[in-house]
Amino acid sequence: MPAFDVAAVRREFPILGTSVHGRPLVYLDNAATSQKPLAVIRRLERFYAEENANVHRGVHRLSEQATSAYEAARAVAARFLGLADPRGCVFVRGATEGINLVADSWGRAHLRPGDEILVTHLEHHANIVPWQLAAERSGARVVVAPVTPRGEVDLDAFRALLSPRTKMAAFAHVSNALGTVNPAAEMTRLAKAAGAAVLVDGCQSAAHFGVDVPSLGCDFFVFSGHKTFGPTGVGVLWGRPELLDSMPPYQSGGDMIRKVDFDGTTFREAPERFEAGTPNISGVLGLAAALEYFMPIREAAHAHEQALLAAATERLRAVPGLTVVGEAAEKVAVLSFNLKGAHPHDIGTLLDADGVAVRTGHHCCMPLMKGLGLAGTVRASFAFYNTMEEVDALVRAVERARKMTA
Ligand code: ALA
Repeated sequence: MPAFDVAAVRREFPILGTSVHGRPLVYLDNAATSQKPLAVIRRLERFYAEENANVHRGVHRLSEQATSAYEAARAVAARFLGLADPRGCVFVRGATEGINLVADSWGRAHLRPGDEILVTHLEHHANIVPWQLAAERSGARVVVAPVTPRGEVDLDAFRALLSPRTKMAAFAHVSNALGTVNPAAEMTRLAKAAGAAVLVDGCQSAAHFGVDVPSLGCDFFVFSGHKTFGPTGVGVLWGRPELLDSMPPYQSGGDMIRKVDFDGTTFREAPERFEAGTPNISGVLGLAAALEYFMPIREAAHAHEQALLAAATERLRAVPGLTVVGEAAEKVAVLSFNLKGAHPHDIGTLLDADGVAVRTGHHCCMPLMKGLGLAGTVRASFAFYNTMEEVDALVRAVERARKMTA
């Protein structure tokens, strides 16, 4: 594998050359949203400057071209997930909408009173609340697999909670708050053996390592474009096509119908059934550009990020009063921590003054924070364009913050 040329990579991301408060930007909030390469920025510009038309509607040339590009993007999304058949890839607004779609539509078709939906204690709110609403509608119950103090799902407890009542197991591939990589293939195997359907929330995995949906074996997989170097407002829900076809529409309108009559309407199959109205065409094309950019480098990118994670973890552990939160054996480059006696928001504000962008608080994981007995954490989340110099800058800024809050 050729050495990963991070300086060359950074030149592709214009924002990384900017300053904040007169300091070079050190962007370590990649789990919230990633930055965008020129390939994506230029793709959006080209679409609006030269190609803009609606898809699936016109017979005119621009519309036909936009339709081909949109459907080609679906094939790119499928390839990104290790799939040959693009039919199961539904373009949605993001992972949140993907989970809501499944919880609502699959839930209406498959959940009955007394059924159980198994989630884990480390889920993002987006993989908890839609299931709570689906449970309320159907009379099903949300069951929660615990997490160990190291921040790993307790696999024995997960196994023990599975039963013939479990109709859905929905869990994160990677924890956004702690960086834990869950044994998603093993969890899927266990849940499927119990007869449950499985949804994997890939929001935080897709940008860090190669995802191969067939080897995961799940029924649904979601990820967001904006966390995967693409635009905001677009993401992918993959579902087994036969399962998607068994589900009622989530939203209705143009493009998702076969025939409309006041006596009754019939619907198309997936993916069109779930893409009512004019989709986010430019976003979909921008997402495809992002995935095409990322796919060839993702193995080298992962190795580089792991080196950053190891260095940052070792250096921060040496800071007096600093506790690393989340010590799973397998992690992506997400580093949550607290400083004794200091509120995470204060640390975040002090780091910002040094140009270091991190996220602070509960990271949309209130149950996880409550379980760990914490109000929140400071979270530094890395991408492949971050550098060892930026690890130095983070450590320096944390040291300064420690002195100022001591
Ligand atoms: N889910 C995103 C995060 O973890 C917003 O920051």
